[in-house]
Amino acid sequence: MADNYKVRDLSLAEAGHLKIEWAESRMPVLMALREKYSKTKPLAGQRIAGCLHVTKETAVLVRTLRAAGAEISWSGCNPLSTNDEIAAALAAEGVSIYAWHGMSTEEFYWAIDRTLDFKPTLTLDDGADLITRVHVKYPELAEGVLGGTEETTTGVHRLRALAAAGKLLYPVLAVNDAETKWDFDNVYGTGQSSIDGILRATSVLLAGKNFVVAGYGHCGKGVAMRAKGMGCHVAATEVDAIQALKATLEGVMVKNMDEAAAWGDIFITATGMKDVIVGRHFDKMKDGAIVCNTGHYDCEINIPDLEARAKSKRRIRDNCDEYVMEDGRRIYLLGEGRLINLSAAEGHPSEVMDMSFANQFLGMLHLAEKGRDLEVAVHDIPREQDLELASLKLQTMGITIDELTPEQVVYANSYLEGT
Ligand code: ADE
Repeated sequence: MADNYKVRDLSLAEAGHLKIEWAESRMPVLMALREKYSKTKPLAGQRIAGCLHVTKETAVLVRTLRAAGAEISWSGCNPLSTNDEIAAALAAEGVSIYAWHGMSTEEFYWAIDRTLDFKPTLTLDDGADLITRVHVKYPELAEGVLGGTEETTTGVHRLRALAAAGKLLYPVLAVNDAETKWDFDNVYGTGQSSIDGILRATSVLLAGKNFVVAGYGHCGKGVAMRAKGMGCHVAATEVDAIQALKATLEGVMVKNMDEAAAWGDIFITATGMKDVIVGRHFDKMKDGAIVCNTGHYDCEINIPDLEARAKSKRRIRDNCDEYVMEDGRRIYLLGEGRLINLSAAEGHPSEVMDMSFANQFLGMLHLAEKGRDLEVAVHDIPREQDLELASLKLQTMGITIDELTPEQVVYANSYLEGT
């Protein structure tokens, strides 16, 4: 095996190429950016280390970054989310990539460290593991880094904590917080792909099931919306009174987890918090309860508590482990408690990742050009970028919108207009 990549099986590359081609046909915004910037190559001379789920959509982003002139070194950001066909395809195209499905925690960090071997000038994260590695283990690399981007809510929280502690070493763009990212990817992407993951792992009928979503943030709301659409009775659990109120007024029952544990048939965590489902909740669950997570880390469900209560465990289907409790009840844990949409399915659909990854791409351009001048802080994506991407996306969908007339602009900006 060449020493600039490690993947499961290079012979899977052809299947991976077909999947990437399929994604490209559904990511018109990113493809338009590729076309535009492959001419001017604004990323020439940049070395980008990426730590983000290795999916067909990510491959479209990687190809686009390369077309704009960047050199790439990549690892997955979750041990179970890598699609081995895609990893093989990227390796076959000459991308330095270290990722395979089912890697251990040790291998996971080994892979990140390999991407740091080539001393990146930019970092691209989903979950902040790469940038944290730079800060904690290789701080000497930070000097050569112009900036980084972060894809997900959990990662942005971590980075804001790092900045608040005065320890952030280079500027970061919070891609997650772009409206064209979180208002679409987190809601519609997570909504659809999480249901997709549950169905691929279980193939159960959703109609009529009691479905519990822990956390009614953007991701939880998306999942709740889709579960409702499939005929589930949906309840949310929350720690935030405002979110709980929103859920209630959106027709989603609110219960605390102790109540919900005895009520639910299917549970999904979407909180970004640890220990959301713990031992006492497993004690109350019905025989046959299905439990999974769609948050970034696998700490939302306390799996050691489940293991401690089980007299036996077996894998009954792909991504579905049956735990038999001392009293005979069976609890099914999906995707080993890792994000169900990427462990059991293919992640968010290409159409929605089109906008998320267009934000990533433009974020990289922004940092390559202006990183040196930016304050060392966590920055929002410029508003103009959001508006430009939303317009572009609408254009690719053949949708036109109205424009304010000059009189309406005056009206909108006047304090004298009234009855
Ligand atoms: N996160 C969620 N869905 C994804 C996808 N399809 N590709 C990369 N990251 C993702």
